[in-house]
Amino acid sequence: MADDFEPEIIVFACHYCAYAAADLAGSMRLQYPSTIRMIKLPCTGKLEVIHLLRALEAGADGVYAAGCLEGECHYLKGNLWARKRIEHVKKLLPEVGLEPERVEMYNMSSAQGPEFARVATEFTERIKGLGPNPLRRHGVSPHAAARDAAKDVAMPDPSPAPTEKGPAE
Ligand code: FES
Repeated sequence: MADDFEPEIIVFACHYCAYAAADLAGSMRLQYPSTIRMIKLPCTGKLEVIHLLRALEAGADGVYAAGCLEGECHYLKGNLWARKRIEHVKKLLPEVGLEPERVEMYNMSSAQGPEFARVATEFTERIKGLGPNPLRRHGVSPHAAARDAAKDVAMPDPSPAPTEKGPAE
């Protein structure tokens, strides 16, 4: 594995929890990898299988959803639906030659800035261990493709590129 492999990881983040936790992590000056590119959702229940697949098809090295703690989704079961969709995609991936570990579901509260940073770091290390997505193509932006696929459900957010070791949006 090339030591200089810097994965591109798409995070579908609920704005009530994970997105706020990312802000908190930034305020707390917690460091986490600049590999994370966020797409803000009103609830992870809006996440569909096709959004995950499009991100991977466009070459994202890893994709995860970060939703509210179980029992605390503002739409009651949105995060449970998201987990089911993630599990479904995990089953599909081997059929197209991708490792199921490239997708994951996490839960956290808006107060868990350190947990956001821990998850981002842990998932990045996992993806570095797997190596680049073999579907990655030169000139294709996984973040742009994922945003476009989820444009009907994503919340407005310019999502600038994160600065090195800084907070990502
Ligand atoms: Fe946060 Fe549903 S409102 S996951």
